[in-house]
Amino acid sequence: AKFDLIIRGGRVATAADTFDCDVAIRDGRIAALGDDLGTADEIVDARGRLVLPAGIDSHVHLAQPGAPGQVMADDFESGTRSAAFGGNGTVLPFCLQRRGESLRAALEAYHGKAAGQCYVDTAFHLIVTDPTEAVLGQELPALVADGYTSFKVFMTYDGLALSDRQMLEVMQVGRETGAIVMIHAENDDAIRFLTDRLERLGHTAPRFHATSRPIPVEREATHRAIALSEIVDGRIMIVHVSNRPAMEEIRRARSRGLPVHAETCPQYLVLTEADLEGIGMEGAKAVCSPPPRDLASQEACWEGLRTGVFDVFSSDHCPFRYDDPAGKLAPRGRSSFRWVPNGIPGIAARLPILFSEGVAKGRIDLNRFVALTATNHAKIYGLYPRKGTIAVGCDADIAIWDTDRPTRITHDLLHDACDYTPYEGIEVSAWPVSTLVRGHFVVRDGQLVGRKGHGAHVARAVAPN
Ligand code: URP
Ligand code: ZN
Ligand code: ZN
Ligand code: ZN
Repeated sequence: AKFDLIIRGGRVATAADTFDCDVAIRDGRIAALGDDLGTADEIVDARGRLVLPAGIDSHVHLAQPGAPGQVMADDFESGTRSAAFGGNGTVLPFCLQRRGESLRAALEAYHGKAAGQCYVDTAFHLIVTDPTEAVLGQELPALVADGYTSFKVFMTYDGLALSDRQMLEVMQVGRETGAIVMIHAENDDAIRFLTDRLERLGHTAPRFHATSRPIPVEREATHRAIALSEIVDGRIMIVHVSNRPAMEEIRRARSRGLPVHAETCPQYLVLTEADLEGIGMEGAKAVCSPPPRDLASQEACWEGLRTGVFDVFSSDHCPFRYDDPAGKLAPRGRSSFRWVPNGIPGIAARLPILFSEGVAKGRIDLNRFVALTATNHAKIYGLYPRKGTIAVGCDADIAIWDTDRPTRITHDLLHDACDYTPYEGIEVSAWPVSTLVRGHFVVRDGQLVGRKGHGAHVARAVAPN
């Protein structure tokens, strides 16, 4: 036959257009778009379905070591499986450099963990925690040349946070190599000050996690990160933005022409500080940083998604089991929120939530949805045009959606290795029922049919500004 597969009769959408046509696939790539394309070994009937670029989730933590005794729930197998069930074809997990460790050694370890385990494609960002002269002068530039074209830096967390000087050094390497620097923007000293004070008052329950990281903590660090990037003329991505004042900093920087990108995540659209309450340690299920805010902040984030303050919508999937001393019920966490591991799972829930709350409710249009969930990730992180759209020559990474499928999110739908979802009970109206990666079904009509190991690591380019 002329093609390996034809997806017939669906409605196709990209970041630019929506059109009804068939999609023909050969050798893992999209080979033709149109009607009456000819013969294929297999025809898939997509009438009544949406055919979208598979999601790209550019903010994912898998098998990343936390504090001593803490274990992330998902490894590359379960994390990429869950990603596929949520309509994703590519995920960008972090490779964490530990202090004293070379980036090459860290990458070797992560590639070892991922090899042969992945259901969907992957590409690592680097987390730089120890910007030594060797890292800045040799390792980072060589790794950018090898296709690791983004690094994350932290302004908070013991063992991870960089000083302003160190941030400048890393941003300078970004400037020189074309790599983008992702920034976790929270003021570390302010968090410590507030945390110490709360603990002295006996305010140690999970809900005080939010009190310890109020909006000015994030706004100040966002402002500072932008100023530092301006000093070296570097390109940055402010990740997991949760509120309007931080958005205003980003908007102002953009209006001055600075190459500042921004990301928000589902927790800032559908959770609030109230989700950190609950009986006993229950609130630990929503402990992430920055914390979920209030309803006005949710509205602000929707506005940012609509108006372009946010380029990308990612999960920040950072899964810890709840009922587990290596997870949210870490023994020390009962004595203070300070010791509850930060992060929540969301790799499979991200797209159904944004589609249902965004597209189905008229807050964003379908093409904006595709931009926010796939195309912009590919463009900003150097995967475009191989990934992130539906066009002749691209990888055939496709999600087929049933947009008339009222579903209550429950943990068992997500197929991760966590033991809860912070989105339990949320009603969505659509679900990605099938996911193809390079022309092969990974999930088909809600069943896992892919082969572990089909997912490959993808080298990335430096994105144009
Ligand atoms: O609380 C969070 N977001 N944990 C994950 C690590 C990070 O900062 O992205
Ligand atoms: Zn054939
Ligand atoms: Zn972060
Ligand atoms: Zn994260």
